[in-house]
Amino acid sequence: MAEDSLTHLQGSARAGALLDDQTRIRALQFDRWIDHPRATQALQQLERLLAMPERQRMPCMVLHGDSNIGKTLIVTKFLRSHPAAFDERRGVEQRQIVAMQMPPTPDQHRFYTALLFELGAPHSATATLSVLERLARDLLRRIAPRMLIVDEVHHLLAGGYREQRAALNLLKYLANDLKLSIVVVGTADAPLALEPDAQMRSRFTPFEIPRWRETEEFRRLLVAFERVLPLRKPSDLSQRSLVQFLLAASAGLTGEVSRLLNEAAELAIQDRSERITLSHLEQVARG
Ligand SMILES: Nc1ncnc2c1ncn2[C@@H]1O[C@H](COP(=O)(O)OP(=O)(O)OP(=O)(O)O)[C@@H](O)[C@H]1O
Ligand SMILES: [Mg+2]
Repeated sequence: MAEDSLTHLQGSARAGALLDDQTRIRALQFDRWIDHPRATQALQQLERLLAMPERQRMPCMVLHGDSNIGKTLIVTKFLRSHPAAFDERRGVEQRQIVAMQMPPTPDQHRFYTALLFELGAPHSATATLSVLERLARDLLRRIAPRMLIVDEVHHLLAGGYREQRAALNLLKYLANDLKLSIVVVGTADAPLALEPDAQMRSRFTPFEIPRWRETEEFRRLLVAFERVLPLRKPSDLSQRSLVQFLLAASAGLTGEVSRLLNEAAELAIQDRSERITLSHLEQVARG
């Protein structure tokens, strides 16, 4: 079989489809990025924020959507296009973006610990809050990032009222004092986490990644998946029956669509049919 007979695949995916079964099955386990319009818009919005000149009230964003829809993958893709660099002259790491996760309980001690970890700064576990705070702020001032991304921000809601307020004040302080754009990322509840604070509410522009519906865009997503899956025959994933099945079985979540297709592709390699059929999908959806 020759690469140029695999016209249902993207050029860069053709060689992969000719590899042995085991290698192809293993390749299915790696996340690959598939462009889709809403993700592209989110990335453009992030770029816009990053390019924003410094001003008194830096604009911020809350990127929200259901679990498994692809929020963290968007952030990862964004970070990859802005890698850290070492500033030889100043002897410090230059990072435009610092990304971290909100700890499961949002107390300030844990927040600063997570932030310092992200900044690559070791510190004593017994350090007091004020020490951690000073260290983190000094470091941020030196590194001078333009943007702080805090994923899993709905964890704020796991805290009590005072804890939530304190964490919000902390974010507000970082935004105001260091003139950072803050991007918080989380589930549908994320905007709620900002609710108690009027200033935060007005400054954070919401951006939602919604679940998929039966649209042309969803069909295009499936076609894009098909063009990179290492199968030797076309599956024609944009057929109505497959589209509808995938939508229902995934509940419109990108992560589930990806899982179903990867597992179905594995079956198609194992049974030598080399294309995904409805019966493969039914089998993997049953679990
Ligand atoms: N653009 C994409 N291209 C390919 N796969 C994607 C894409 N977006 C999401 N996925 C798939 O969905 C899975 C879940 O994505 P991700 O971890 O970003 O979700 P999330 O919205 O951050 O979920 P949670 O709220 O639970 O953290 C990924 O591991 C990947 O398999
Ligand atoms: Mg995530």
